[in-house]
Amino acid sequence: MNLTWKQAFLLGGLFLFQKISMEIIPASAQMKQWSRRCKAQGKSIGLVPTMGYLHEGHLSLIRRCRAATDSVVVSIFVNPTQFGPGEDLDRYPRDEEGDLRKCRELGTDAVFMPDASQIYGPNHQTYVEVGPVAEPLCGATRPGHFRGVATVVLKLFNIVLPDRAYFGSKDYQQLQVIKTMVRDFDLDVDVVACQTVREQDGLAMSSRNAYLSPEERNEALCLYKALTRARALFAAGETNGDNYLKAMREIISREPNAEIDYVSLVDPESLQDLEKVDSRALAALAVRVGRTRLIDNMLLE
Ligand code: PAF
Repeated sequence: MNLTWKQAFLLGGLFLFQKISMEIIPASAQMKQWSRRCKAQGKSIGLVPTMGYLHEGHLSLIRRCRAATDSVVVSIFVNPTQFGPGEDLDRYPRDEEGDLRKCRELGTDAVFMPDASQIYGPNHQTYVEVGPVAEPLCGATRPGHFRGVATVVLKLFNIVLPDRAYFGSKDYQQLQVIKTMVRDFDLDVDVVACQTVREQDGLAMSSRNAYLSPEERNEALCLYKALTRARALFAAGETNGDNYLKAMREIISREPNAEIDYVSLVDPESLQDLEKVDSRALAALAVRVGRTRLIDNMLLE
């Protein structure tokens, strides 16, 4: 196609306008109105729920959403109800300007950025009661965490009205909790699970990696090394669950600043411990490196 310089200029301007014209929406009522307008125009809506400090993992979700939906909404909200006492709510990393720039560059249509009072009114009293899928792994060491996650995600679904919502598989249990809630409450949202994005050396991307000192960053690789060891055992036909746990623990215990929260081998659906491995298993870890709690997992199949 041959374009005159005038046509090229106009097209360039249109492209730039689309990138610049991202809406930043602070209020729930305004967000809902925006979504209703999209629906009235017959547009599908995709939601990428985040707590901000966006990294390549989040960006891969936004790209995937952009490719599949008419209107892309990214929510940025550090949800207080999913943090326990003494956890990192107050120091959770934030970069509003950088986040908005990244969203804009990827062609996001709207960023929902409420403050806590928009999500939890002064008399808020209703929470999602999560079931057994929320009990093991992170649920055991972070009581109340998944109740907070499920509650905020349900609220985001009701405010943004998405057809699809995108979540990373690093938070595997979170995904299972949300899928279970969607099924049990008959919600009309497709939950799209996306692959964990890793640094070149294998460390799973996480906003919390920003807390790590250079020395801790090196030690944090023990999570990926332990999971890779589990994968090698699986490939070699190992069936004894204990042998997986021993091998993963041994790798983590080599690092002086790494302290195990849990090392588990579970059924990928129920998340219950597996003593014997047949065709599928999930190796899942939570490890504190210095003050930073990191999680990761690998599906063995
Ligand atoms: O995975 C996260 O960032 C959060 O748990 C979520 C899903 C945005 C809910 O606050």
